[in-house]
Amino acid sequence: MSQFATRAVHAGLEPDPSYGSVIPAIHQTSTYAQRAPGEFVEDFDYARSANPTRAALERALGELEGGLGSAFASGMAASHALLTAATDSGAHVVLPGDLYGGTYRLVDKVLSRFGLEYDLVDQTDLDAVAAAMRPETRLIWVETPTNPLLNVVDIAEIVNRKGDALVVVDNTFATPVVQRPLELGADAVVHSTTKYLGGHSDTVGGAVIVRDPDLHEQVRFVQNAVGAVPGPFDCFLVHRGLRTLHLRVAAHTENARGVSDFLRDQPGVTDVRWPGFGGMVSFRHPDATRIAARTKLFTLAESLGGVESLIEVPQAMTHQSVEGSAAAVPSDLVRLSCGIEAPEDLVEDLRNALA
Ligand SMILES: Cc1ncc(COP(=O)(O)O)c(C=O)c1O
Repeated sequence: MSQFATRAVHAGLEPDPSYGSVIPAIHQTSTYAQRAPGEFVEDFDYARSANPTRAALERALGELEGGLGSAFASGMAASHALLTAATDSGAHVVLPGDLYGGTYRLVDKVLSRFGLEYDLVDQTDLDAVAAAMRPETRLIWVETPTNPLLNVVDIAEIVNRKGDALVVVDNTFATPVVQRPLELGADAVVHSTTKYLGGHSDTVGGAVIVRDPDLHEQVRFVQNAVGAVPGPFDCFLVHRGLRTLHLRVAAHTENARGVSDFLRDQPGVTDVRWPGFGGMVSFRHPDATRIAARTKLFTLAESLGGVESLIEVPQAMTHQSVEGSAAAVPSDLVRLSCGIEAPEDLVEDLRNALA
């Protein structure tokens, strides 16, 4: 198999058979002409079910994670599809002790109404994971690094303790450049492609990649039955993003290294966290809100993973939905998504905001 950089550039792409265009067309269509009733090209009968631009992205996602890919309208739609495909009423899932607030909200406020049970478990404590397993545990949901505390979970060790359950990894923060969970024995990967995979803060999307063809069929069934599919232009944007993913992640990593080194020496700053890869950094400061409002290059905004740097206070922004729960985050926590600008400019911006 070729190196990741080569796969990132070429994944899912074949020159268009009609005109030879190197980049396939954006198939902006809702339906396809049939030769006779029920006679159509491959599985292209209706665009909720299948679209060639989406199919190219799905092939690419599969190639990069090492499985079978399905694309969704958002990361949450992808998580919802996997959870509903793999569980039913009365099933139990193990969630991480800190995680993206929207994932918690989906399970706690929506799926629990249909009988899904869950426990929040600190997955850096492997004994706690083993102790949380029940006969009806269908799935262990892993997020690593976690959002926003950037805890790193050992996927292979979780797999060793999974029993009959599936291990699902939200790989949004790490990306397949750094971490390919299916190669470590996990059963499924989900992404918010809104973040690093798209990489330019110009689209919202999600993905599920699984190893087992039967599970893939179940995810596909939900994709079509629920219909939370991405439009062709959004698929095109994510697919274009994939082609520079390895270069961007390298630049994000260097900038996050520089920013976290700087922050560690600053008065008032505590608990600087950077997992050693990727662009996400968090730290605590009593003036978190003021700092987040003062940066100029780091835009105060939710989301992450784009080429431009963003800053936020999770407790007041992305993680409102975990307030009051066991997954609540400290109010003095600042989360940075370091972009790919010049590192000295990012450090200068933070220096001014901290002054
Ligand atoms: C780790 C993680 N997973 C999933 C999501 C949800 O993705 P989306 O906003 O594309 O629905 C997010 C969004 O911030 C996230 O950070």
